[in-house]
Amino acid sequence: MQDPRLKEFMKEFTLSDSQLKEVYNRFGNEIRKGLNKDTHAKADTKCFITYVQDLPNGDERGKFLALDLGGTNFRVLLVTLKGHHDATIVSNTYPIPQEILVGTGEQLFDHIAKCLDDFVKAQQVGESYLPLGFTFSFPCVQLGLKKSMLVRWTKGFQCSNTENEDVGRLLKEAIARRGNTEIEVLALLNDTTGTLMSCAHRNANCRIGLIVGTGCNACYVENVDCVDLLEPELKRTKKKVIINVEWGAFGDSGLLEFVRTDYDRIVDKMSPNIGQQLYEKMISGMYLGELVRLALHKATKENLMFLRSANKNKILEVLNKEVGCFKTEMLSRIEADTFPDFTNTKNILKELFGSEKVNIEDCQKLRFMCECVAQRAANLVAVGLAGLVNRINEPNVVIGVDGSVYKHHPKFDAYMRVTMRKFVTPGIKFDIMLSEDGSGRGAALVAAVASRQK
Ligand code: BGC
Repeated sequence: MQDPRLKEFMKEFTLSDSQLKEVYNRFGNEIRKGLNKDTHAKADTKCFITYVQDLPNGDERGKFLALDLGGTNFRVLLVTLKGHHDATIVSNTYPIPQEILVGTGEQLFDHIAKCLDDFVKAQQVGESYLPLGFTFSFPCVQLGLKKSMLVRWTKGFQCSNTENEDVGRLLKEAIARRGNTEIEVLALLNDTTGTLMSCAHRNANCRIGLIVGTGCNACYVENVDCVDLLEPELKRTKKKVIINVEWGAFGDSGLLEFVRTDYDRIVDKMSPNIGQQLYEKMISGMYLGELVRLALHKATKENLMFLRSANKNKILEVLNKEVGCFKTEMLSRIEADTFPDFTNTKNILKELFGSEKVNIEDCQKLRFMCECVAQRAANLVAVGLAGLVNRINEPNVVIGVDGSVYKHHPKFDAYMRVTMRKFVTPGIKFDIMLSEDGSGRGAALVAAVASRQK
């Protein structure tokens, strides 16, 4: 892409190494604050204790139910752990109607319990005792494996009467209302913890779980001595504990203002959780498409795009009015395109604006804009990950990853690795592995560890 004016226009999305270094330093500082009892309340990244202190050894066995709430879909799963690092999974996806997403907590949990009941009946497993792990992917203060108080909703969820409530209790009560006495809720966990557990099940060096999907967050294995708020008796028996960083909230106290753009500010203002999850809003699938839409609209208004298009007024109107029209999945499709035909990009422009003739130069420019937005997201994830890898400070650190952006964007992984190499301490080797159904397998593994302790 050769247009120097568009390059200049997109420059604010390009983070220099010194800006990234500053983000890296500030992130490390927030982690320390989150773990320290005197500064915890003021930290952006709360570093919540998960109460998961054992990684799987691969021998876990048994049948478990798992629930996965917090991404694009709600899922119910039946996981059979077979020992020898092996598992089979049967699952079903259930839509959550919009009115439930923004309804009452009771409606949401009744809906979950109904889907669970339908699933158990369809799988014909309702006769025997069924331990359940609940992957609930929102910020929670855990008070134990089975007790988890919702701090706040993210990612477009907004159910009333649920904040500061114990999500484990809400689920248990809803299951009891339906009379499924055979089901016991054994563990509540975040999707990052599920991802870490499921990857550790296959690779013993896994120490970090990362999600880059609808939302973004990471968890990692910390030494108990560094976790001030962990009960002393839990420090005596075990050396490690998984910490849910809740890094999406990094920047909420203003620490990222030096890299945020006006587009980020608009995306935030249009969200139901204004001023919250500011790091996440620069990275995750719920927001990347919107960032491109806003930048593309401004670039078109400033005559940097669609210069020769007969359709320019229509394009401007669509970009201005149709919030959400540019989907994050389009970024992935555009970056997957091959030169010089730009088949995906052309189709997307046709889908969006009904343009009949598409100019190749516009395709190149749009691709460049998508690259800038995705690369910034990957760079921000990379410095956070490097911060965790360096904290863990073991010779080989494996990161388990899940989430639609990481999985479907053709370059996200490569972008991340390049920047991580700049920030990871020389001598530490890191690798990134794709998680296979972390939320399901991971929930079963946490429940398995819990039932062993029981
Ligand atoms: C939530 C996290 C979750 C992440 C990825 C964020 O919005 O706060 O708890 O892990 O999304 O799903």
